[in-house]
Amino acid sequence: MSVLSLTGGLAMDLGTANTLIYRKGDGIVVNEPSMVALETESRRVLAVGQEAKNYLGRTPKGLEVVRPLRSGIISNFVVAQEMIKHFLVQAGAKRCFFRPKIMVGVPMGVTQLEKRAIVEAAKEAGGKSIHLVDELLAAAIGLGIKTTEPVARLVLDLGGGTSEGVIISLGTIVVIESCRVAGDESTLAIARYLRRKYNLVVGENMAERIKMTIGSAIPLEETQSFQCRGKEVHTGIPKMVNLTSEDIREALVDITAEFVNLIKLLLSQTPPELAIDLSRDGLNLTGGGSLLKGLDKRLSQEIGLPVHVPENPLLSVALGLGEVLENMSYFKSVFVN
Ligand SMILES: Nc1ncnc2c1ncn2[C@@H]1O[C@H](COP(=O)(O)OP(=O)(O)OP(=O)(O)O)[C@@H](O)[C@H]1O
Ligand SMILES: [Mg+2]
Repeated sequence: MSVLSLTGGLAMDLGTANTLIYRKGDGIVVNEPSMVALETESRRVLAVGQEAKNYLGRTPKGLEVVRPLRSGIISNFVVAQEMIKHFLVQAGAKRCFFRPKIMVGVPMGVTQLEKRAIVEAAKEAGGKSIHLVDELLAAAIGLGIKTTEPVARLVLDLGGGTSEGVIISLGTIVVIESCRVAGDESTLAIARYLRRKYNLVVGENMAERIKMTIGSAIPLEETQSFQCRGKEVHTGIPKMVNLTSEDIREALVDITAEFVNLIKLLLSQTPPELAIDLSRDGLNLTGGGSLLKGLDKRLSQEIGLPVHVPENPLLSVALGLGEVLENMSYFKSVFVN
């Protein structure tokens, strides 16, 4: 890590599920789950990030794993601030010669209280000036979209806590819609389905693993299977079930329908001139939820527009924030404070 790069600043994608930090000149240097393991009584922080996630579902007595952001908003201020400070320090915020500039992506509906909590935590972590950036504009920039052009683009960010869709034109957001049905909810839908259909109880980590391994939004060319271990609902006896991709597609049917509704709602509010642009360019998906197998095809069938997914949709916001950090004077319209 160069001293020069550290004086330039850090940019943070503070997500419900994952937090990423981009360091000027170096790229993404932190990519960890937004989780904190605490000692229940003293509230002392024991682990943050991946180390905390490893405790999920297997926490010994007296220890709990907390996700301080839920549905894209801060649900536990004290723990959220601890986590923000921890990640910024991990990215080197305190090791630089000059105090760094820190940029944080925030969702559209962020409250004054949340903004203040983020700014305070970033200052305590060593930040000199703290800049809040609209995370959907950052996502679009990270997708390589020329946001300032007079051409409308549709970006759909399927995150952990929220799904947000925007139509962008001339550097601003023209239409925005969001819903609380996103990655967390799809993981829970799988857990509920297994309980109902197989009397099987599984933890959140297992349900998420099933989703990532065999989850799909359309029938796969070859049915895939997953040996799922959990316990029997009433007896608690360990139990194993051989699940198929068909099972998980059924479990996720309602979730996929919510995504289709969200897009239809966005399109219904789009001025006709902009709709013409969208019919050419289609939808740009980002966020971890867009990794669900076949989701792009399914959405394209339902909406009748082309759907694009980037190579790594988990990185779009952080890469976009990084680009803003590298060229702050060019991207003036993305700042919200
Ligand atoms: N291969 C995959 N298939 C389906 N879902 C996936 C896959 N990989 C990751 N996800 C889901 O993506 C979600 C995390 O995405 P992301 O990191 O974009 O969210 P976030 O930015 O932390 O959340 P938010 O933007 O809502 O605050 C998780 O719910 C995770 O289960
Ligand atoms: Mg996100």
